[in-house]
Amino acid sequence: MTPQHIAIVMDGNGRWATKRFLPRLAGHRQGMESLRRCIRACLDRGVAVLTVFAFSSENWNRPADEVSGLMELLASALGKEVPQLLKDGARLHFVGERAGLSDKLRKGLEQAELATAANSRLILNVCFNYGGRWDIAQAAASLAAQGRAITEVSLHQAMAMSHVPDPDLIIRTGGELRLSNFLLWQAAYAELFFSDKLWPDFDEAELDRAIAEFTRRERRYGKTSDQLAPVANGQKVA
Ligand code: FPP
Repeated sequence: MTPQHIAIVMDGNGRWATKRFLPRLAGHRQGMESLRRCIRACLDRGVAVLTVFAFSSENWNRPADEVSGLMELLASALGKEVPQLLKDGARLHFVGERAGLSDKLRKGLEQAELATAANSRLILNVCFNYGGRWDIAQAAASLAAQGRAITEVSLHQAMAMSHVPDPDLIIRTGGELRLSNFLLWQAAYAELFFSDKLWPDFDEAELDRAIAEFTRRERRYGKTSDQLAPVANGQKVA
């Protein structure tokens, strides 16, 4: 079965550029092309939610020109991509800390969200200035401020990703085997797929490889295999 929610750590842009003696930003620009192709592929495959990690809370520590380049890339993507996303029936959500972004960029994010708010074919979450720990902490702080009890349900509701079900499949490109502060709470039962491809080289075939691998996994949620086997007329079906 196709995963309903796919989340991706788009890693490897810098290495892609360095291998070609290009500045790292050229890799991020190529990464944008790869993201466009991936959105198209998810639309074609009937994926309901795509979540991508575009800028982490920790990415502020990168060289200043790379940080400002990524801000500009997002700002220019808003102008360029929103018309096509609108046509494709995609709804945009920006997930992350808005404080710290420029007023202009914040306004741009709000406008893009508003412009696509009536769409429902694909929900596209762009995690920007996002960290899984930030999300858990801000959810707990908001519950505490309201004097509400902290439970799994109330925390989930207060989180920045509460508008979508948890990811079924998390893909990380670039060959590293870690989550790097991405969707820490929501990853509890996600299937993980690690690809050696650098993000700009990630294509439909690699997405299909990840989906095929996902369909082979048995998701037990703490149960045994026997408990999961379908039952027909009181008898287990082989
Ligand atoms: C990680 O690769 C990638 C990022 C920090 C940025 C991801 C951005 C894009 C894919 C472009 C789309 C952007 C927006 C704003 C929507 P890396 O730079 O850490 O690569 P490396 O590990 O090879 O150095």
